[in-house]
Amino acid sequence: MTDEQLIAAARDAALKAYAPYSRFSVGCAIESVDGEVVTGVNVENACYRLGVCAEQSALSAAHLAFGLQNVARIAVAGGDGSSETLAGDIICTPCGGCRQAIYEASCLSGRDIEIICSNGNGSAVERRSISTLIPNGFGPANLKDAG
Ligand code: THU
Repeated sequence: MTDEQLIAAARDAALKAYAPYSRFSVGCAIESVDGEVVTGVNVENACYRLGVCAEQSALSAAHLAFGLQNVARIAVAGGDGSSETLAGDIICTPCGGCRQAIYEASCLSGRDIEIICSNGNGSAVERRSISTLIPNGFGPANLKDAG
């Protein structure tokens, strides 16, 4: 899948977000090393702090479909999902918690996962690696001294 197709999958998914409180719709598309693609969206809750981000929804789907260790590339798009296509000018980058969740997948394979961050309307994109988004991260290797 091309970068454009992966972004399109994330933008399409965002239209299915459940975001009645923030009204900020996020979609995430994850491609496996074998080219399989799964998506996720943010799912909010009346108890605000229980909302789930799109990346974590998508990582859960990825784990079921092909395993976290096989995550190759991720696209994220966020904006106004109230019309037929996702809108908005500001590029959506993964929040800190999602960076940590992506870092876990990265540690499992030793692969520096690429994250394509898009604005809502798809006109602006930034490409980052997880090692750039979360340098010196805390991962499975940090737990080796646990009793
Ligand atoms: N959100 C995500 O889904 N992913 C991110 O990386 C940033 C934030 C969601 C959480 C909440 O439902 C809404 O965007 C506003 O913060």
